[in-house]
Amino acid sequence: MKISIIGGGGLVGSCAAYALQTAGIVREIALLDVNQEMASGQALDLLHGTPSVADQIISSGGYEHIPDSDVICITAGLRRSPGESRLDLINRNVDLFVKILEDVQSAGPKQDAIVLVVSNPVDVLTYLAWDRLGLDRSQVIGLGTQLDTIRFRSLIAQQLGAPPTQVSALILGEHGDSMVPIWSSATVAGLPLEKYPGWTANTAAELFQRTKGSGAEVIRKKGGAGFAVGIAIRDVIESIALDSHRVLPISSVQNGCYGIRDVALSTPTVVGRKGVVAIHEIDLWPKEVQGIRNSGQTLRQTIDTVFSRIGSNRAKRG
Ligand code: 2OP
Repeated sequence: MKISIIGGGGLVGSCAAYALQTAGIVREIALLDVNQEMASGQALDLLHGTPSVADQIISSGGYEHIPDSDVICITAGLRRSPGESRLDLINRNVDLFVKILEDVQSAGPKQDAIVLVVSNPVDVLTYLAWDRLGLDRSQVIGLGTQLDTIRFRSLIAQQLGAPPTQVSALILGEHGDSMVPIWSSATVAGLPLEKYPGWTANTAAELFQRTKGSGAEVIRKKGGAGFAVGIAIRDVIESIALDSHRVLPISSVQNGCYGIRDVALSTPTVVGRKGVVAIHEIDLWPKEVQGIRNSGQTLRQTIDTVFSRIGSNRAKRG
């Protein structure tokens, strides 16, 4: 399987490439970036490690890599400034992102290629990619709240002194300020989280707030996230590459799950080689479902604002 990472010269793209390389699950990783020298340097640095990792091809260049790519991962875009929300980014990133989509389309992606959007605001840009590329909604996905979910799990584990791999706690909805913690299914080693030694209601509130602010916290401390984003991207691409059918909280254009339509956000999604295999509308607490619906309303307002300026291709196609 070949993965092209647009924005591969940057922090997120190069960390995703490194996570994919160390997982050893794909045949080729191509780094594409407007800064071709940087992409070439990242690729060379990765290449030097291949003898000790896996027999993979590490390449860099331009959109000539698109036609034989199975997954096209788009990480390019401006990062938030401290104090800026992901939705605030929209006006600065939309025009850049539309140009990238036009270049991808011109390059002629495979009929069954999967587009994985990471650039922010990821849910709005996932919807925009679906609108512009004319691919099936199952083939256009966004990293969504997979990153928030592993952050959430990591912080819960750290607080309780529990093994992070045994903490199961989900975030759904917007990868942004309206994200929703799914306490109704949270467990440690299969045991109810709220019964776990040391857990209190205050713990829950504090950890969710810290999770929601983690992107901004990392930006304040080191300028932007890379390692955990790269691992979250690897989680999604691994499920595509191996056709694992893992159930992941990723963003896709919804068609009725929890009563939500025509907006991209994260719901429990079965991820395989064809992208979205299925979406499980599993019973949640009423306030959790309402929270996901609130995310949908917030995101739909931003999409309407964006499309009032740039128009919708699907609306034109009918
Ligand atoms: C984050 O939350 C980049 O949106 C990503 O760090």
